[in-house]
Amino acid sequence: MNALSPGLPAPSLEAYLQQAGEVILHRSQSETAPALPAAPSGDLRVGVDLGTAYLVLAVLDEAGRPLAGEWQFAQVVKDGLIVDYIAATDLLKGMKERVERRLQRELTRAVSGYPPGVPRAEVRATAHVVQAAGMDCPELVDEPTAANNILRLQNGAIVDVGGGTTGIAVVRDGQVVYTADEPTGGTHFSLVIAGSLGISFEEAEALKIQPAQQPRLFPLVRPVMEKVAAIVKRHITSHPVDQITLIGGTSAFQGMAAVIEEWTGVKTSVPPRPALVTPLGMAMQGGRDE
Ligand SMILES: Nc1ncnc2c1ncn2[C@@H]1O[C@H](COP(=O)(O)OP(=O)(O)OP(=O)(O)O)[C@@H](O)[C@H]1O
Ligand SMILES: [Mg+2]
Repeated sequence: MNALSPGLPAPSLEAYLQQAGEVILHRSQSETAPALPAAPSGDLRVGVDLGTAYLVLAVLDEAGRPLAGEWQFAQVVKDGLIVDYIAATDLLKGMKERVERRLQRELTRAVSGYPPGVPRAEVRATAHVVQAAGMDCPELVDEPTAANNILRLQNGAIVDVGGGTTGIAVVRDGQVVYTADEPTGGTHFSLVIAGSLGISFEEAEALKIQPAQQPRLFPLVRPVMEKVAAIVKRHITSHPVDQITLIGGTSAFQGMAAVIEEWTGVKTSVPPRPALVTPLGMAMQGGRDE
């Protein structure tokens, strides 16, 4: 059976994420993207991931297939805490409106999430941003559980290398049984690149995500990758696993999986579009929309 879309042939994880990557657009593309030829029918499943580096809105159809979405860089959240409530709300409102125009449907509900270990009061602030942007937020899911809605790992570690932090989640029999979150992520990559090349953080950020630039940047960021690897190794020493799946935007840096695998001795892989796994999993969690 296809867990993502009961009754349909199972898409591979790779094909699913590639397809999601084609419909979840960067804000600059989203502004001018044409509307879908016809408004989708049926319930919609919406996910909102307010990350330290990226805000992502993902919309799936009833069967869980990616329909549309938008992502943009924004520094309005720090390690799961909303630091600029007004800006977060305004940005999300804009994302919602552009995606609604493309879909020709209103988005009325969204599932959002929180990194494990964030205090309850702060988790509620995330729901308030979603509500202030015009959607109900009936459910908040912890990020690794959301990610595993897409990955469907039975046993192993999900390592989420995002903007601000690295999250480690150990999965046994399909359930997240152990989590940890430590402050090293893509922002540190950008800081090291900016410092080494004498450029601004913004320039480093833009350079870093270009695949063609990564081979020459690799020696600069390798020590940060090794720091991530050391964090992962420490956690899986007490919670052994025989496979690691890397997700989060920073996992897209070429060579990440090899460095983690070399340090931990555990088979490590990265799916396509690793930054979209958690937002898609939030949408998959529910968020049915009339
Ligand atoms: N192709 C790429 N290569 C390298 N780094 C990338 C790439 N794409 C995105 N990133 C980096 O990934 C980070 C964003 O990833 P992600 O969206 O998973 O983080 P986040 O959820 O915003 O942050 P956090 O989970 O720490 O709150 C940024 O630091 C960004 O520069
Ligand atoms: Mg994240």
